Amino acid sequence: MQHYSGDQHPNIIDTIGKTPLVRLERLCSNAEVNIYGKLEAFNPGGSIKDRTAKQLISYAINNGKLHFGDTVIESSSGNMAIGLAQACLYYGLNLIVVVDPLVNQHTVKILKTYGAKIEMVKEPAPIGGFLTARLNKVNELLDRVKNSYWPNQYSNPQNPVAHHQTMREIAESLSGNLDYLFAATSTCGTLMGCADYIQKNNLPTKIIAVDAAGSVIFGQPAGKRKIPGHGAGRPSNFLERDKISDVIHITDEECVIGCKRLLEKEAILCGGSSGAVVSALLKKLPYIPKRSTCALIFCDRGERYLDTIYNNDWVKENIELEKVLVA
Ligand SMILES: Cc1ncc(COP(=O)(O)O)c(C=O)c1O
Repeated sequence: MQHYSGDQHPNIIDTIGKTPLVRLERLCSNAEVNIYGKLEAFNPGGSIKDRTAKQLISYAINNGKLHFGDTVIESSSGNMAIGLAQACLYYGLNLIVVVDPLVNQHTVKILKTYGAKIEMVKEPAPIGGFLTARLNKVNELLDRVKNSYWPNQYSNPQNPVAHHQTMREIAESLSGNLDYLFAATSTCGTLMGCADYIQKNNLPTKIIAVDAAGSVIFGQPAGKRKIPGHGAGRPSNFLERDKISDVIHITDEECVIGCKRLLEKEAILCGGSSGAVVSALLKKLPYIPKRSTCALIFCDRGERYLDTIYNNDWVKENIELEKVLVA
C-alpha cells in the first residue's frame, strides 16, 4: 500500500499559505516568456485574504490586544470577512461583519455558517455612501460592544507584512529568478508587502499593479465597477508609487475575458481579479523581453462568481463584451 507523505499541520490556520505556483504553458502559448500563477484559492477560506486575516488576528492576540471571547468588528463583505470568520472561529473570538445591501448572499451564508454575526446598514451616508455608513456603524459598535477590536485592514501595518511571506514563497519557488510580478490591488496590502520583500532582498523583479477601471487608487476618477475584489473607492494608506514599475487598469469586460481564458486554456477556475491580472499580462506582453519570467497572483476561487462572471446571461445584461485580446 502506498502512503501519502504530505505535510501535517497542527490546525487549520497553519494550512494558510504555501499555496502552489503553477506553470501556465498554455495561457499565451505563442509568447516566449515563462508564466506562473500563484493559486491563492488553495487557502482554506478560498482566498489570499486568509493570510491577511491570520496575520492581523494572530498579531493582535500575541500583542495582548485580543483575548479569547473578545469581539472582532470589521466592515467587509468579501474575502477578508471570510478569512476573519475562519480565524475568529478558530481562536474563540466573536465576529461582527458590517455589510450593506450590495453584499453577495452566498458570502453572507458562508459568514453565518462560520458563526459570524451580520450587521446590515440600510441607507448610504449623505457623503461617502455605503462605505462611510459602514464605517460609522463599525465605530458605533466599537463603542457599544464590550471588549471589541477593529482589525482595520485599510491602515493596519500588519496587512502588508502578511505578504512578505507570499512573495518569499514565489521567490523561493523560482530561486529568485522573477522578472515581473502582476498583483491586483485594493488595500494595496498584497502589492506593498511583495514590494517590501523584493526591495529588502534586492530581487530584480518589476512589480505591475493591476487595478480596476473606475477605481481611485492611482488617482483616476471613480467609476462604476460590477466585479468585486480588486479596485477601491478610496485611496490606499499603504501605496508607495515609486516601488511600482507600472499600473494597468482593467475593465469589467477584460476581467471576464481573462477569467474565461484562464479557464479554457489552463482549466483554472478563478475569481474576477485573477481575470484582471491575466488581461493585464496580455496587454503588457508586447513590452516584455523574450525569455522573461512572470508570476501572476490569482487571489481567489471562481465558485463565488458562478452567478456573475461565469453566467452568460449575467454577463450579457451587465457587461458589454467589446474587447478582444490577442496574444
Ligand atoms: C479577489 C481579490 N483580489 C484582489 C484583492 C486586493 O488585495 P489587497 O487588498 O491586498 O490589495 C482583493 C482584496 O480584497 C480581493 O478580494
